[in-house]
Amino acid sequence: MDVGYTVEQLRAAAADAVRAPSLHNTQPWRFRLHEGGIEVVVDPARRLPATDPSGWGTRIACGAALYNLRVSLAAAGTPASVRLRPYPGEPDVVARLVPDLPRRPTPTEQSLHAAIPRRFSNRRPFRPDPVPADLRWRLGEAARAEQCWLELVIGTSAVNALGELAHSAHRVLERDPAYRAERVEWTRAEPAPDGVPATAGGPRSEPQDLLPQRGFGALHRAPGRDFEPEPLVAVLVAAGNTATDQIVAGQALQRVLLTTTDAGLAVSMLSQPIEVPGARERLRLSVGRFGTPQMVMRIGYGQPGRPTARRSVDEVLDLPMARVAER
Ligand SMILES: Cc1cc2nc3c(=O)[nH]c(=O)nc-3n(C[C@H](O)[C@H](O)[C@H](O)COP(=O)(O)O)c2cc1C
Repeated sequence: MDVGYTVEQLRAAAADAVRAPSLHNTQPWRFRLHEGGIEVVVDPARRLPATDPSGWGTRIACGAALYNLRVSLAAAGTPASVRLRPYPGEPDVVARLVPDLPRRPTPTEQSLHAAIPRRFSNRRPFRPDPVPADLRWRLGEAARAEQCWLELVIGTSAVNALGELAHSAHRVLERDPAYRAERVEWTRAEPAPDGVPATAGGPRSEPQDLLPQRGFGALHRAPGRDFEPEPLVAVLVAAGNTATDQIVAGQALQRVLLTTTDAGLAVSMLSQPIEVPGARERLRLSVGRFGTPQMVMRIGYGQPGRPTARRSVDEVLDLPMARVAER
């Protein structure tokens, strides 16, 4: 008797998983069926050695893809039980999902699943409208449900201090030619199944900008058109900074992002202050709690935009040969 997931279930869930965000849209994941379980595995060919030497970004992205897998399987009535890093000798295996007892999806699972294809990074200026308290609370709940927390940076001086920290981290990164080369390599002027389209890159930076833009495309900026003066900035914090903590943080990140999409909010991510160790330490001290910052987000009401491309599911699946022959 086959008690594991099938190729068709893997294929359907992986189609949702690939919609996860990743540093420079590298999509550093593979999905395989192994003894009835779905496994999420790092794709070593898609690491960013200069931008992400520790592999933090890869694990955040794979954690986010894992969260999409979980929501997708739950929405299909076949929820998973998950083990993170199941094989000590194979650290690139991020997670193994085996079928749990079938049940109907909860309304939250259904709405987060419906948000997967609509979510995207919106790097353009947001409207100045504040994010209401009940939505802020919902975002915090989303992080807490995944064993992390969301620290909202409140008040002009705190937001300014974070902006300065992010700008100085940005300058440190931009001084490294290998880092700049990776950013250029993954910026796409023409339609492509990976990388960041120049059209999604946000407008050209100006000196008065509170937060740094990674500079993927530098869209033409209308004269006088500024970013929102009081952005809602949130720091996602995990209990620690082990590889497992980072995978947990990736799942929490994706839950927060899907919750924002479901709530009609837009988000852009800025991870420069996470990538520079000194900046991350200062950020950790400024959020004033235990734990380690894993992502910074700008949240608000955005102009319309559209999701970026992904490679096809077939390109990221590793199927057991016997199963392929069965199909
Ligand atoms: C770990 C991580 C770090 C990221 N850092 C940044 C960043 O510093 N600046 C930025 O504009 N986008 C950042 N992003 C967003 C990615 O560029 C984006 O997810 C990717 O291009 C796919 O686009 P999408 O989010 O619209 O699907 C980051 C995403 C992840 C997962």
